[in-house]
Amino acid sequence: MVDAYDLIVIGSGPGGYVCAIRAAQLGLKTAIVEKNPTFGGTCLNVGCIPSKALLHASELYEEAGHGFAGMGIKVKPELDLAAMMKYKAEGIDGNVKGVEYLLKKNKIDTHRGTGRVAGAGKVSVTAADGAVETLATKAIVIATGSDIVRLPGIEIDEKRVVSSTGALDLDRVPEHLVVIGGGVIGLELGSVWRRLGAKVTVVEFLDRILPGMDNEVVKSFQRILEKQGVAFRVSQKVTGVKANGKGPLKVAVAPASGDGATEEFEASHVLVAVGRVPYTEGLGLEEAGVAIDNKRRIVVDDHFETNVPGIYAIGDVIRGPMLAHKAEDEGVAVAENLAGKAGHVNYGVIPGVIYTYPEVASVGKTEESLKAAGVEYTVGKFPFTANGRAKVNRQTEGFVKILADAKTDRVLGVHILGPDAGNMIAEAAVLMEFGGSAEDLARTCHAHPTLPEAVKEAALAVGKRAIHI
Ligand code: FAD
Ligand code: NAI
Repeated sequence: MVDAYDLIVIGSGPGGYVCAIRAAQLGLKTAIVEKNPTFGGTCLNVGCIPSKALLHASELYEEAGHGFAGMGIKVKPELDLAAMMKYKAEGIDGNVKGVEYLLKKNKIDTHRGTGRVAGAGKVSVTAADGAVETLATKAIVIATGSDIVRLPGIEIDEKRVVSSTGALDLDRVPEHLVVIGGGVIGLELGSVWRRLGAKVTVVEFLDRILPGMDNEVVKSFQRILEKQGVAFRVSQKVTGVKANGKGPLKVAVAPASGDGATEEFEASHVLVAVGRVPYTEGLGLEEAGVAIDNKRRIVVDDHFETNVPGIYAIGDVIRGPMLAHKAEDEGVAVAENLAGKAGHVNYGVIPGVIYTYPEVASVGKTEESLKAAGVEYTVGKFPFTANGRAKVNRQTEGFVKILADAKTDRVLGVHILGPDAGNMIAEAAVLMEFGGSAEDLARTCHAHPTLPEAVKEAALAVGKRAIHI
């Protein structure tokens, strides 16, 4: 057994590497174990970063083809998909090298290989060549993330029937991409390929896309996506995908419930995007006695500790939204707790963003959840059609919606459908973190002409005194 550590983190995604850095900052002797050749986890290698690279590039491509002429810029864009993929790869490379640099800078020991809990205070690391080393540590943080959910009978070959990983790396634009699942991945990656020229059909099992998000926002968003050319089949399920040599895939679709007839249509590619599942394989959790729930999540208490003292877990592998910034905040909190501080995550204020065009961003409660909880609330709304900057930019689709407590005026939820919504939601998160009111937001001076003025106007609208509408 070598090296006694204060902390060993298994997994170097946003949860793991941030946890390791914070622990090292606080003086803990820290190591991180990663089985992939590069650091950064799903997010940097096959998730947030590559998807945002392709969303950015494809948005500019579409804008150049359709939006530029209206501003007096004449260009005829031509797609070089291989070069776009190279641009994406460079973005990944820069980010994963950045993590490697940060780990080094913070004097964190890195161990390449598959980590396994080998008993209390012990982690074994199996390298690619099979060599095993066992490390001793006071605490273990499991940050092994998540994996794609597969559908029975639909085999993912990552060429024509793909998960998000394959959809980020296609070598040609699909003629017809069928997306199974109207969630975040389906809509983001569906948008990428539609902008690059694919016909896109989204098949969603439920009677609405984006379950859990504010209904009014989702309804408007779906209408906008339909106008852009995305076709939706809600309350339907894909029951099979058949490949016949090099010919088109035959996709069988049936009503989600009842015995309605199965329809078959052709597709060049199918993207399976029906959720992700915690990744706990090969970690030795059963042998170590670590409890896992019925959704395969590692069970933790409020301090991220499992039922086995000294073993903690964070990020996608535990409960809560599967988001990089949630994993990061949990990483910081657990490191601070281990260093004797009071680490904490406020789960009521975790923003969620869908990086389509327009973007959808939300933080806090939806109208439906307030109704269900019997909370009395007031609503303030402001459309981007009435925002000067949106008008001049010709980006007027969408609106800001603020939900405030009817008695105290405290802001309970903010939902933005519109250009740059992902950046705009940050001020709502800060406001809510400080327990602010709609009045606080309405009285805060916002620069003109900017899109966030729509957020201020929505706050004014809570008090029925918006100026520009
Ligand atoms: P991960 O990032 O999954 O990292 C886990 C790491 O652990 C991996 O590197 C893995 O190799 C390693 N590992 C696993 N088992 C072992 C072992 N036994 N030993 C050693 N190493 C191991 N979230 C956002 O907030 N914004 C986005 O825009 C966004 N976009 C996304 C787009 C896509 C296509 C996908 C798939 C996800 C996206 N997400 C996004 C979700 C985000 O990627 C995850 O929430 C986040 O990566 C979770 O971080 P994590 O640290 O828990 O795990
Ligand atoms: P998701 O949970 O967001 O959506 C899955 C969708 O598939 C749901 O609408 C669900 O009802 C539907 N579905 C489930 N089974 C189905 C079936 N058999 N047939 C048809 N539809 C079915 O999961 P998704 O999109 O795979 O994303 C996984 C995770 O990655 C999410 O939890 C998300 O938080 C994270 N992510 C975050 C991003 C962001 O923050 N911008 C971007 C991409 C992913």
